[in-house]
Amino acid sequence: MLITIPDLLTSAQVEEARRLLDSAEWVDGRVTAGHQSARAKDNQQIPEGHPVSRQVGEMILLALGQNPLFHSAALPLRIFPPLFNRYSGGQSFGTHVDNAIRQFPGAPVRIRTDLSATLFFEDPENYDGGELCVEDTYGVHRVKLPAGSMVLYPSTSLHHVTPVTRGTRLCSFFWLQSMIRDDGKRSLLFDLDLGIQNVSRELSEHEAARKSAVQLTGVYHNLLRQWAEM
Ligand code: NI
Repeated sequence: MLITIPDLLTSAQVEEARRLLDSAEWVDGRVTAGHQSARAKDNQQIPEGHPVSRQVGEMILLALGQNPLFHSAALPLRIFPPLFNRYSGGQSFGTHVDNAIRQFPGAPVRIRTDLSATLFFEDPENYDGGELCVEDTYGVHRVKLPAGSMVLYPSTSLHHVTPVTRGTRLCSFFWLQSMIRDDGKRSLLFDLDLGIQNVSRELSEHEAARKSAVQLTGVYHNLLRQWAEM
Protein backbone atom coordinates (compact mmCIF):
# COMPACT_ATOMS: atom_id res chain seq x y z
CA MET A 1 0.00 0.00 0.00
CA LEU A 2 1.23 3.50 -0.90
CA ILE A 3 0.24 6.28 1.49
CA THR A 4 0.58 9.99 0.86
CA ILE A 5 1.10 12.27 3.85
CA PRO A 6 0.10 15.69 2.48
CA ASP A 7 1.68 18.85 3.94
CA LEU A 8 3.93 17.10 6.43
CA LEU A 9 5.99 20.32 6.43
CA THR A 10 4.62 23.86 6.13
CA SER A 11 5.84 26.07 3.28
CA ALA A 12 7.92 28.06 5.81
CA GLN A 13 9.61 24.83 6.94
CA VAL A 14 10.24 23.79 3.33
CA GLU A 15 11.83 27.17 2.64
CA GLU A 16 14.05 26.96 5.74
CA ALA A 17 15.06 23.38 4.88
CA ARG A 18 15.92 24.34 1.30
CA ARG A 19 18.09 27.22 2.48
CA LEU A 20 20.05 24.82 4.71
CA LEU A 21 20.25 22.07 2.08
CA ASP A 22 21.53 24.48 -0.56
CA SER A 23 24.39 25.47 1.79
CA ALA A 24 25.61 21.88 2.33
CA GLU A 25 28.32 20.06 0.40
CA TRP A 26 26.85 17.34 -1.78
CA VAL A 27 28.62 14.10 -2.73
CA ASP A 28 28.08 11.16 -5.09
CA GLY A 29 24.96 9.28 -3.97
CA ARG A 30 26.58 5.85 -4.30
CA VAL A 31 27.94 6.22 -0.71
CA THR A 32 24.79 4.72 0.84
CA ALA A 33 23.94 2.30 -1.96
CA GLY A 34 24.30 -1.45 -1.57
CA HIS A 35 26.54 -3.34 -4.00
CA GLN A 36 23.79 -4.04 -6.52
CA SER A 37 21.95 -0.70 -6.36
CA ALA A 38 25.22 1.28 -6.71
CA ARG A 39 25.22 0.37 -10.40
CA ALA A 40 21.70 1.75 -10.86
CA LYS A 41 22.18 4.92 -8.83
CA ASP A 42 23.15 8.31 -10.27
CA ASN A 43 22.42 11.27 -7.99
CA GLN A 44 23.92 13.42 -5.26
CA GLN A 45 23.55 13.17 -1.50
CA ILE A 46 24.51 15.02 1.65
CA PRO A 47 26.86 12.77 3.67
CA GLU A 48 25.28 10.90 6.60
CA GLY A 49 25.75 12.72 9.88
CA HIS A 50 26.41 16.10 8.17
CA PRO A 51 25.18 18.94 10.48
CA VAL A 52 22.64 20.04 7.84
CA SER A 53 21.31 16.47 7.56
CA ARG A 54 20.90 16.36 11.30
CA GLN A 55 19.23 19.77 11.52
CA VAL A 56 16.70 19.23 8.72
CA GLY A 57 16.34 15.58 9.83
CA GLU A 58 15.26 16.78 13.30
CA MET A 59 12.66 19.05 11.70
CA ILE A 60 11.27 16.07 9.76
CA LEU A 61 11.24 13.72 12.76
CA LEU A 62 9.45 16.34 14.85
CA ALA A 63 6.82 16.83 12.13
CA LEU A 64 6.35 13.05 11.85
CA GLY A 65 5.90 12.83 15.63
CA GLN A 66 2.99 15.26 15.43
CA ASN A 67 1.29 13.72 12.40
CA PRO A 68 -1.63 11.38 13.26
CA LEU A 69 -1.96 10.07 9.68
CA PHE A 70 1.70 9.00 9.68
CA HIS A 71 1.31 7.18 13.00
CA SER A 72 -1.87 5.44 11.93
CA ALA A 73 -0.39 4.34 8.59
CA ALA A 74 3.15 3.41 9.65
CA LEU A 75 2.86 2.34 13.31
CA PRO A 76 6.56 3.22 13.57
CA LEU A 77 8.98 1.53 15.95
CA ARG A 78 12.28 3.10 14.78
CA ILE A 79 12.92 5.74 12.13
CA PHE A 80 16.26 5.98 10.34
CA PRO A 81 17.80 9.49 10.44
CA PRO A 82 16.56 11.20 7.24
CA LEU A 83 18.96 11.44 4.27
CA PHE A 84 18.80 13.88 1.36
CA ASN A 85 19.31 13.52 -2.36
CA ARG A 86 19.00 15.56 -5.51
CA TYR A 87 18.84 14.78 -9.21
CA SER A 88 19.46 17.04 -12.20
CA GLY A 89 20.96 16.94 -15.71
CA GLY A 90 19.40 13.60 -16.65
CA GLN A 91 20.27 11.82 -13.39
CA SER A 92 18.11 8.86 -12.35
CA PHE A 93 18.00 5.79 -10.12
CA GLY A 94 17.28 2.51 -11.93
CA THR A 95 15.08 -0.28 -10.63
CA HIS A 96 16.27 -1.65 -7.29
CA VAL A 97 15.08 -2.87 -3.92
CA ASP A 98 16.25 -1.16 -0.71
CA ASN A 99 18.57 -3.02 1.68
CA ALA A 100 16.63 -5.04 4.26
CA ILE A 101 18.77 -4.01 7.24
CA ARG A 102 20.26 -0.58 7.94
CA GLN A 103 22.86 0.32 10.54
CA PHE A 104 22.28 3.66 12.28
CA PRO A 105 25.22 5.96 11.64
CA GLY A 106 27.50 6.05 14.69
CA ALA A 107 25.23 3.98 16.94
CA PRO A 108 24.92 0.26 17.71
CA VAL A 109 21.35 0.24 16.40
CA ARG A 110 20.00 -1.55 13.35
CA ILE A 111 16.58 -1.43 11.79
CA ARG A 112 14.70 -3.72 9.48
CA THR A 113 13.39 -1.55 6.66
CA ASP A 114 9.63 -2.19 6.49
CA LEU A 115 8.64 1.15 4.94
CA SER A 116 10.51 3.55 2.69
CA ALA A 117 9.69 7.27 2.72
CA THR A 118 10.30 10.04 0.19
CA LEU A 119 9.61 13.65 1.19
CA PHE A 120 9.60 16.21 -1.63
CA PHE A 121 11.22 19.66 -1.34
CA GLU A 122 10.56 20.94 -4.87
CA ASP A 123 7.17 21.54 -6.47
CA PRO A 124 6.43 19.24 -9.46
CA GLU A 125 6.11 22.06 -12.02
CA ASN A 126 9.73 23.15 -11.37
CA TYR A 127 11.30 20.01 -12.85
CA ASP A 128 10.60 17.41 -15.53
CA GLY A 129 10.92 13.70 -14.79
CA GLY A 130 12.02 12.60 -11.34
CA GLU A 131 8.96 10.47 -10.73
CA LEU A 132 9.25 7.81 -8.08
CA CYS A 133 7.84 4.64 -9.68
CA VAL A 134 6.85 1.88 -7.26
CA GLU A 135 5.90 -1.57 -8.50
CA ASP A 136 3.38 -3.72 -6.70
CA THR A 137 0.90 -6.42 -7.67
CA TYR A 138 -1.47 -3.72 -8.99
CA GLY A 139 1.10 -2.31 -11.41
CA VAL A 140 3.44 0.67 -11.35
CA HIS A 141 2.54 3.73 -9.26
CA ARG A 142 4.10 7.02 -10.31
CA VAL A 143 4.58 9.53 -7.52
CA LYS A 144 5.58 13.21 -7.73
CA LEU A 145 4.23 15.28 -4.87
CA PRO A 146 4.11 18.97 -3.92
CA ALA A 147 6.93 20.34 -1.76
CA GLY A 148 6.33 19.40 1.90
CA SER A 149 4.39 16.20 1.09
CA MET A 150 5.63 12.65 1.63
CA VAL A 151 4.93 9.16 0.32
CA LEU A 152 5.32 5.92 2.28
CA TYR A 153 5.66 2.60 0.42
CA PRO A 154 6.61 -0.94 1.38
CA SER A 155 10.40 -1.40 1.31
CA THR A 156 9.80 -4.80 -0.28
CA SER A 157 8.77 -3.10 -3.56
CA LEU A 158 10.96 -2.70 -6.61
CA HIS A 159 11.19 1.01 -7.44
CA HIS A 160 13.07 3.55 -9.53
CA VAL A 161 13.35 7.29 -10.15
CA THR A 162 12.95 8.48 -13.76
CA PRO A 163 15.60 10.80 -15.28
CA VAL A 164 15.34 14.47 -14.32
CA THR A 165 15.56 16.29 -17.65
CA ARG A 166 14.85 19.86 -16.46
CA GLY A 167 15.42 21.56 -13.10
CA THR A 168 16.33 19.76 -9.88
CA ARG A 169 14.52 17.17 -7.83
CA LEU A 170 15.30 17.64 -4.13
CA CYS A 171 14.05 15.08 -1.61
CA SER A 172 14.59 13.51 1.76
CA PHE A 173 14.49 9.73 1.93
CA PHE A 174 14.62 7.35 4.85
CA TRP A 175 13.33 4.04 6.14
CA LEU A 176 11.48 2.86 9.17
CA GLN A 177 10.83 -0.30 11.07
CA SER A 178 7.17 -0.71 11.88
CA MET A 179 5.70 -2.46 14.92
CA ILE A 180 3.75 -4.38 12.27
CA ARG A 181 6.15 -6.06 9.88
CA ASP A 182 3.53 -7.39 7.45
CA ASP A 183 2.18 -4.86 4.95
CA GLY A 184 -1.22 -6.61 4.73
CA LYS A 185 -1.75 -6.60 8.50
CA ARG A 186 -0.58 -2.98 8.73
CA SER A 187 -3.05 -2.01 5.99
CA LEU A 188 -5.90 -3.76 7.82
CA LEU A 189 -5.12 -1.86 11.03
CA PHE A 190 -4.92 1.41 9.09
CA ASP A 191 -8.33 0.82 7.46
CA LEU A 192 -9.87 -0.16 10.79
CA ASP A 193 -8.43 2.93 12.48
CA LEU A 194 -9.75 5.26 9.76
CA GLY A 195 -13.16 3.58 9.89
CA ILE A 196 -13.39 3.96 13.67
CA GLN A 197 -12.41 7.63 13.45
CA ASN A 198 -15.08 8.31 10.80
CA VAL A 199 -17.80 6.47 12.72
CA SER A 200 -16.86 8.22 15.96
CA ARG A 201 -17.11 11.61 14.28
CA GLU A 202 -20.40 10.99 12.48
CA LEU A 203 -22.37 9.19 15.16
CA SER A 204 -21.01 10.56 18.41
CA GLU A 205 -24.46 11.67 19.69
CA HIS A 206 -25.99 8.18 19.43
CA GLU A 207 -25.45 6.01 22.50
CA ALA A 208 -25.51 2.66 20.63
CA ALA A 209 -23.15 3.87 17.93
CA ARG A 210 -20.77 5.22 20.55
CA LYS A 211 -20.69 1.82 22.20
CA SER A 212 -19.96 0.12 18.87
CA ALA A 213 -17.12 2.54 18.27
CA VAL A 214 -15.65 1.62 21.66
CA GLN A 215 -15.97 -2.09 20.80
CA LEU A 216 -14.21 -1.56 17.47
CA THR A 217 -11.49 0.45 19.19
CA GLY A 218 -11.04 -2.55 21.48
CA VAL A 219 -10.69 -4.82 18.44
CA TYR A 220 -8.07 -2.46 16.98
CA HIS A 221 -5.97 -2.45 20.13
CA ASN A 222 -6.31 -6.18 20.65
CA LEU A 223 -5.13 -6.86 17.09
CA LEU A 224 -2.23 -4.49 17.65
CA ARG A 225 -1.42 -6.37 20.89
CA GLN A 226 -1.47 -9.66 18.97
CA TRP A 227 0.70 -8.51 16.11
CA ALA A 228 3.04 -5.77 17.37
CA GLU A 229 6.74 -6.54 17.70
CA MET A 230 8.85 -4.19 19.80
NI1 NI B 1 15.37 2.93 -3.07
